[in-house]
Amino acid sequence: MPSMPMHIVSIVGARPQFVKASVVSRVLRDRGMEETLVHTGQHYDPAMSEIFFDELGIPPPDHNLDVGSGSHAEQTGAMMVGLERLMEARRPDGVLVYGDTNSTIAGALVAAKLVLPLAHVEAGLRSFNRAMPEEVNRIVTDRLSDLLFCPTETAVRQLASEGIVRGVSLTGDVMLEVTRHFAERADAQVALSGITHHEPGRYGVATVHRAENADDPARLAGILEGLASLEFPVVLPLHPRTRRRIDQQVVPSNVDLIEPLGYLPMLTLVRNARCVLTDSGGLQKEAVWLGTPCVTLREETEWVETLVGGWNRLAGADPVRIREAVDRRPTGRPPEFGNAPGGPASALIATALESLG
Ligand code: UD1
Repeated sequence: MPSMPMHIVSIVGARPQFVKASVVSRVLRDRGMEETLVHTGQHYDPAMSEIFFDELGIPPPDHNLDVGSGSHAEQTGAMMVGLERLMEARRPDGVLVYGDTNSTIAGALVAAKLVLPLAHVEAGLRSFNRAMPEEVNRIVTDRLSDLLFCPTETAVRQLASEGIVRGVSLTGDVMLEVTRHFAERADAQVALSGITHHEPGRYGVATVHRAENADDPARLAGILEGLASLEFPVVLPLHPRTRRRIDQQVVPSNVDLIEPLGYLPMLTLVRNARCVLTDSGGLQKEAVWLGTPCVTLREETEWVETLVGGWNRLAGADPVRIREAVDRRPTGRPPEFGNAPGGPASALIATALESLG
């Protein structure tokens, strides 16, 4: 009798997780594993969710828990109820979670309580700022995980310093794989002129969505003032959290507010930009990989490799620091990071998951 294929439940819910899952899901399925893809519904606007499934060729989710927005407890609790029901019924061989969102921690807690093997993609990242909900999600998820897939050596060392060594592996960064895979396609398929009327190299791209920036009027005002001080236009695709807040602010005349973009148009926009200004984690890396200097609108970054040569600079929400960081251009070639021996990351992750069977 042929043996049953290995069954993995993958949990996604927020925009960056769709991007990361796109490469891993493909490899799991290519290797003959059964994957049940669960969308928690944390991100639900078509521009925040569906568009990524379409563009990145992600199989449609097998289940959508439709939890939507709410307080941290409401959102995480609703996800846990849905995930527990589903995982109790299916008893998979492993549960795969990504990154640091509320969807990640909900999946981790449910898997751990049901004593199901838990695997974490993007393990070992730390900002050392516990005021960020993402930091709490990372710490708890890493504590509970049986397999910890680290994108960088820094992440491996961090886990070791916390006493976590069992199940830890250096896989490299799945986002590097996605960026490489889609960068050429984006160039071929998406014209810059379809996104903005600005010329290549003559504009900046900004994104702001972290609670610490979007929900704090003084910090959001500081960021907008910093953007206003730049002598070039800035294209700002608006996350829904920020859209709700920006109405109470004065938007500078050199800032073009646009709707959230899909993955391919965003790659095209970033690759052709003079610089990126962001509080996103993933976009810092994408900018550097695409050779575009980055200014991070936070006080710290989990992705310390990006800081080498000044390709990424920390500026917080202070207009003077933002302007200075933009004016100082980076030196040397952009740092290379996110590769691991034996990669790509998705293959190493799939091989490690096979070991659960
Ligand atoms: C979440 C993650 C963050 C990640 C980001 C990617 C947590 C704690 N944070 O932040 O780490 O970088 O996703 O984008 O999980 N909203 C909509 N439509 C949507 C989604 C959100 O209108 O499709 C609005 C809602 O008003 C909601 C707010 O945006 O209250 C925030 O959404 P939420 O999912 O709670 O967190 P994000 O800020 O997106």
